[in-house]
Amino acid sequence: EIESKINAIVDQMTLEEKVGQLALRGGSSRDKDGLSKELIQQVRNGEIGAFLNIEDTADIRTLQKAAVEESKHGIPLIFARDVIHGFKTLFPIPLGQAASWNPEVAKEGSRVAALEASAMGIRWTFAPMLDISQDSRWGRIAESPGEDPYLGQVMSAAYINGFQGDDLSDPTKMAACAKHYLGYGAAIGGRDYNTAIISNEQMYNTYLPPFKTAVENNAATFMSSFNEINGVPASGNKKILTDILRGEYQFDGFVVSDWNSITEMIPHGFAENEKEAAKLSANAGLDMEMTSEAYDKHFIELIKEGKVAESQLDFYVKNILRIKFRLGLFDQPYIPNDHPGKKMYAEENLQLAKNAAIESSVLLKNEGILPLKANKKILLTGPLADKGKEQLGTWAFDGEEEPSVTPREAMESAVFEEGLTHSRDKSNKQFNKVVAAAKKSDVIVFVGGEEAILSGEAHSRANIKLPGAQEELLQKLLKLNKPVVMVIMAGRPINITEYVDQLDAVLMMWHPGTMGGPALEEILYGKAEPSGRLPVSWPKAAGQLPYFYNHKNTGRPADPEKFVGIDDIPVGAWQSSLGNESHYLDVGYTPLYPFGYGLSYSEVKYDKYSTSMASLQENQTLTVQIRVTNIGVRETTEVVQLYIRDRFGRITRPVRQLKRFEKVTLAPKESKMIQFELAYDDFKYYDNEGVFDVEEGEIDIFVGSNSTTKNQMTIRIGKQAM
Ligand code: IFM
Repeated sequence: EIESKINAIVDQMTLEEKVGQLALRGGSSRDKDGLSKELIQQVRNGEIGAFLNIEDTADIRTLQKAAVEESKHGIPLIFARDVIHGFKTLFPIPLGQAASWNPEVAKEGSRVAALEASAMGIRWTFAPMLDISQDSRWGRIAESPGEDPYLGQVMSAAYINGFQGDDLSDPTKMAACAKHYLGYGAAIGGRDYNTAIISNEQMYNTYLPPFKTAVENNAATFMSSFNEINGVPASGNKKILTDILRGEYQFDGFVVSDWNSITEMIPHGFAENEKEAAKLSANAGLDMEMTSEAYDKHFIELIKEGKVAESQLDFYVKNILRIKFRLGLFDQPYIPNDHPGKKMYAEENLQLAKNAAIESSVLLKNEGILPLKANKKILLTGPLADKGKEQLGTWAFDGEEEPSVTPREAMESAVFEEGLTHSRDKSNKQFNKVVAAAKKSDVIVFVGGEEAILSGEAHSRANIKLPGAQEELLQKLLKLNKPVVMVIMAGRPINITEYVDQLDAVLMMWHPGTMGGPALEEILYGKAEPSGRLPVSWPKAAGQLPYFYNHKNTGRPADPEKFVGIDDIPVGAWQSSLGNESHYLDVGYTPLYPFGYGLSYSEVKYDKYSTSMASLQENQTLTVQIRVTNIGVRETTEVVQLYIRDRFGRITRPVRQLKRFEKVTLAPKESKMIQFELAYDDFKYYDNEGVFDVEEGEIDIFVGSNSTTKNQMTIRIGKQAM
C-alpha cells in the first residue's frame, strides 16, 4: 500500500522537487530575525527533504508546517541530530555500553534517547556507529562497539531495536542510521579520516557483520563514511553502496552521505570537480546528501546529459519517501501533545543511566581495597572528579552540566581537592594541598583520564597516556604509601603501564554519562558491583597498536611466558639468545589487559564443560554446556564468553573468535548451567574469493571469563560424518 502511495507522489513530482528530497540541510537556519524567511520558502518550494540540528521545537514546527501544509505535495521533512548515547539523559559513551556486554543496556539507552529526542521533534538519529575499531589512538573508538565483530553485531541489533522499536511510526521512536559505512575504523595509524586498506576477507569477516545485522534489524538508514576503501571513497563506492547493501543485503531504506563527504571526494583525488563528485555518488548508490550541495546544483544537468539515469533519481526519492511513510510522518508530522517523553531527566531514566554506568565499568585491578570499608577517610581528587559536562563524553550536544551528578556530588563524605583543573592542566600549583589532604586520609581516589574533547571525531591521539600533569600528581600520591584507587574516565584505553603495579585498584568508567557520580559511589562502597568487560584490548603502549585479540598467529608466534623486556637483554647478547619471534622487544606482544577482561567483587569457578556432539555436520546445531559457580560470599555478575579457534583454513584463521556470551548473575554459592547453541553456519567464514563456508577439520572451543581462557573442548566439523 505504501509503495503505491510513493509511486503516485513520485509520478507527480518535477525533477527539481525530486532533487529537493535528496537535500539534507544543516548549519544555521536562523538569521537575526529568527528562522530565515528564505529557508521557509525553499521548504515550500520542495527544495529540501530533511534538516539536521534545528534546535528549537518552534522552528521545527514552522518548517514542518511549510512542508506539509504549504508545499505542493505536502511531503513531510525529517529532522535529524546526533543523538548518540542519549539526548538529555546521557548514558555511557558507546564504547562503554559495549563494555557492559549487555544488549539491554544499549537497547534501553537508545529507547530513552529516542523518547527524549522525539519529544523535541527529532525523528532521525545518526546512530548507531558500528565501525569495528582495533586502534585506541583513533578518537572515534569512543563511539564504536570496540574491536570484535560479533559483539558489534549484538550491539547493532540492540541499538536499532531501542531507537526504532517494533513500529517506527510510534512518535516516540527515531529512525536509526547505521554508520559509518564502511571501514572508517580501519583508518591507518588511527588518524581520523585516514585511508583504509581492507582485503575482501576482512571486509566480510570483520567490518561488514554489524552492518548486515543492522539491515536484518530493519535499520531505516545508513551513512556513508568519510574514508576511502582500497582507493575508492565510500561515498562514491558502488561495490559497498549498491552491490553489497542493495544487492546482497536487500536494504530498502536510504543512505545519507556524511557531512560534505560527496564534495570531499575532490581533495581525496577521486573526483575532478563538484559535478563529477555528484555523478560518482549518484551512480554509486548514495540517496541523500548531507550539507554540501553537489546534487542540488548538478543532478538535473547530469540527467539531461545522460550521465545519470532519471530512474536512479526516482529510486532515491522512493527510498526516502518510504522511510518518511514508515515514520508515520505523512499521518502525524508534528509532535503529539500527549507525547510521553516531554519530561527530560525523568527519574526512571536516570536510574537506567546509573545502572548502565555500573554495568559498563570495568574493574581492571583490585588488590583487595575495593569495596571500600565504610569507616575509611577518603580523599577524592583528580581533574575529572567534579566535571559534570566532561563526564558525558563525546557527542553530548544536548547534555547539560547541571543535571549530571559528579563523583564529588555523589560522595559527600569524601574530602575533595581537585588538584588539576582539567585533564590537560600542566600546572602543579595545587599539588601541595592535595598531598596534605592525602596524608590525612586512609584511601586516595584519583579520578583522571581525558576530558570529552580528547576523543571523538578528529580527536585522535598518538600518545594515549594521561595528558597534562596527571601522572606527576599520581606519582606524588603514590609516594605516600597510602592505597590509591585510580578511576579512569576516558574515550579510549589509557596507557598506565609504567605505574599500574603501584596502584591498588583501577576502575575504567569510560565517559559514564549523567549518572557517573552515583554509579561510582555505589561501586566504591560495594552497593553495586562493576560488571563491565573490555570490548577492546588494553594496550601496554601505543606502539602496539593496532591490536586485536582475534589476530592471526604468524609463522613465528611469540611465547608470552618467555618475554623478558628490553632492560633484561644482556649487553652484547647474541641474536640467537633472543630468538626470532613476532613481538616487540620492549613490550612483548600481549596487551596489558585482554579483550573480554574485567574483575568482579567475587570469584566464579568454571567446570563441567561438554559439547552435545563430537562432530558437527550441515543443518545440525551444537550445544556447548558449562557450569559456573559463584564461590564468593556476595552476589556477582559474570560474563561467560565462548570463543572458537578454527585450527586450519583455506585462508589462515584468527587465534580466537568470540561466538557467544551471556551475562549471568549468581547468588553466593549458586551454580548455573549455561548453554550456548552454535549452528553449522556459525563456523563459516568468507575467504578472499568471497566463498562463505566452513573448513572441514578440528575446531577448539574455549569458554571462560575473557579471551585468554584456555582450551577445554575440541570438535570436528564437516559436511559429512567423519
Ligand atoms: O553524524 C555525524 C558523523 O558521525 C560525523 N560527521 C557529521 C555527522 C552529522 O553531525
